[in-house]
Amino acid sequence: MKRVGLLTSGGDCQALNAAMRGVVKTLYNSGEAVEIYGFLEGYKGLIYGNFTMLTGKDFSGILTKGGTILGSSRTPFKTIQEPDENGLDKVDAMKQNYHKLRLDCLVILGGNGTHKTANLLREEGLNIVTLPKTIDNDLWGTDMTFGFQSAVDIATACIDCIHTTAASHGRVFIVEVMGHKVGWLTLNAGIAGGADIILIPEIPYDIDKVIEAIDARHNRGSQFTILAVAEGAISKADAKLSKKEYKKKLETSPYPSVSYEIAAKIQKKTGQDVRVTVPGHTQRGGSPCPYDRVFASRLGAEAGRLILKGEYGFMVGYKNREVVKVPLEDVAGKLKMVSPDATIIKEAKLLGICFGD
Ligand code: F6P
Repeated sequence: MKRVGLLTSGGDCQALNAAMRGVVKTLYNSGEAVEIYGFLEGYKGLIYGNFTMLTGKDFSGILTKGGTILGSSRTPFKTIQEPDENGLDKVDAMKQNYHKLRLDCLVILGGNGTHKTANLLREEGLNIVTLPKTIDNDLWGTDMTFGFQSAVDIATACIDCIHTTAASHGRVFIVEVMGHKVGWLTLNAGIAGGADIILIPEIPYDIDKVIEAIDARHNRGSQFTILAVAEGAISKADAKLSKKEYKKKLETSPYPSVSYEIAAKIQKKTGQDVRVTVPGHTQRGGSPCPYDRVFASRLGAEAGRLILKGEYGFMVGYKNREVVKVPLEDVAGKLKMVSPDATIIKEAKLLGICFGD
């Protein structure tokens, strides 16, 4: 008998359900008796013992379903070791609930913050297997996370739509793509959507270089320019500020986000009409794309296999086109960022894309 807990934590994304289905199908198909405990709303469910018992039926028909059947919430790592408002020790509570249910292991689906807590629970002696989810694709130890490809499709579709209206009106358009710390999503959607300028957190921009690129297009007879700008894009000047100073700048900024600040500067310096489009959480919504369905199912199947073999303490990841297991301690607390020297950046520059550097 295997008693397995499941939880989804952090911002949701597409294919969470497909991944859980993959785990559960693999466990059931082994012929071994299995009990599945689904903790609700991420770590909160594990802390407060809020769970539901699930059977194979609950995982039927969810391959294509977006969101997560378990619900999710953000429980920041920095607060996990602090007692709650009633003085409850959260880590201790999670361990107690795990042991009370006599779980063999816990499968945790999440991104960066989630992996820090998952590794802490491993250090505390719990059997953990994790799966890498996030539209940001910024988890260390895996070339790809599920949710990413679906989000690339949505952000690209947004840029595609902007293309036709930008061309009709001869305007400058900014599409703000999700990603506060890393630019994988903006970079891929930007290239796929034919953006002329791509601004990502890893390559601080100089607004004069951005304007030069717009002017150069204008002088060549192009009527419009499209910028794909990551939520966390940062100017060279701002990149020199301390974290605290930059946080204060954002808090007191008259603009709702960095894209609006860039738009105002472009409009002022070029006199061109600039519009901003923010697809926002649509990038995390809807049905997973076929790639993510396959990918999440493969990772889920491998997680199921590890559980059946009793191999714990791993994230199931993807390296060089192979599904692999990566020790959790190697993953926790590290971000996979876009290197400014990456070949994809060089290739994008060869295509004429400006990064504002
Ligand atoms: O981490 C995934 C992500 O979608 C980021 O790309 C985005 O910046 C953030 O979550 C949004 O968070 P929230 O859903 O809490 O607003």
